[in-house]
Amino acid sequence: MAIINKVTVGPSTVLFPVPTVLVTSGLAGSNPNIITIAWTGVMNSEPPVVYVGVRPEGRHSHRLIKESGEYVINIPSAAQARVVDYCGTVSGRHVDKFKETGLTPVPASHVKAPLIAECPVNLECKVRQVVSLGSHDVFIADVLAVHYSESVLNEKGRPDLDKIKPYGYCLNEYRLMSDKLGSFGYSRKE
Ligand SMILES: Cc1cc2nc3c(=O)[nH]c(=O)nc-3n(C[C@H](O)[C@H](O)[C@H](O)COP(=O)(O)O)c2cc1C
Repeated sequence: MAIINKVTVGPSTVLFPVPTVLVTSGLAGSNPNIITIAWTGVMNSEPPVVYVGVRPEGRHSHRLIKESGEYVINIPSAAQARVVDYCGTVSGRHVDKFKETGLTPVPASHVKAPLIAECPVNLECKVRQVVSLGSHDVFIADVLAVHYSESVLNEKGRPDLDKIKPYGYCLNEYRLMSDKLGSFGYSRKE
């Protein structure tokens, strides 16, 4: 019989790498806010549907997203990891995070929440469903528009990962994803 050297531990959310994104939200008459979110992902391709998981307690953004029914997912570059960490450790209830970080809010085309100018990719999202799972409420949303900074597009107008420089969040650490291993379907090719 094969000896399998595994140490079994209890259930947890140890799944990595995951992205860390800056999610913007806002209500008329108040400052827009930024929250760092790791619990995010794709749920459907056509139509494009994504989600963010937000704790109801202690998150100013929870109220803003719930009441507005909208948010923007702003994908940061590796160079922005520090500001991502900052936006995930202070609350918009006490701090104007746009002012403190120097990030620039730009009007979106379909939602009232702003885009973050300095983030290379922005997804405008409209909430279609909220699922309460326990610690977090999951805001499932249709993607209404996607924006790329011109500076991260290649000569064919496609996003260039060497320019975007995305990174992953693994076991509470921000880690680079520098080297290309292959591309879709490469295992079937010579
Ligand atoms: C790397 C990182 C990932 C985080 N992911 C989430 C998340 O997925 N959901 C969540 O509710 N809070 C998450 N947080 C915590 C919030 O970002 C943090 O509580 C923030 O200060 C809330 O801001 P707000 O009160 O202005 O909304 C994360 C924090 C960090 C640093």
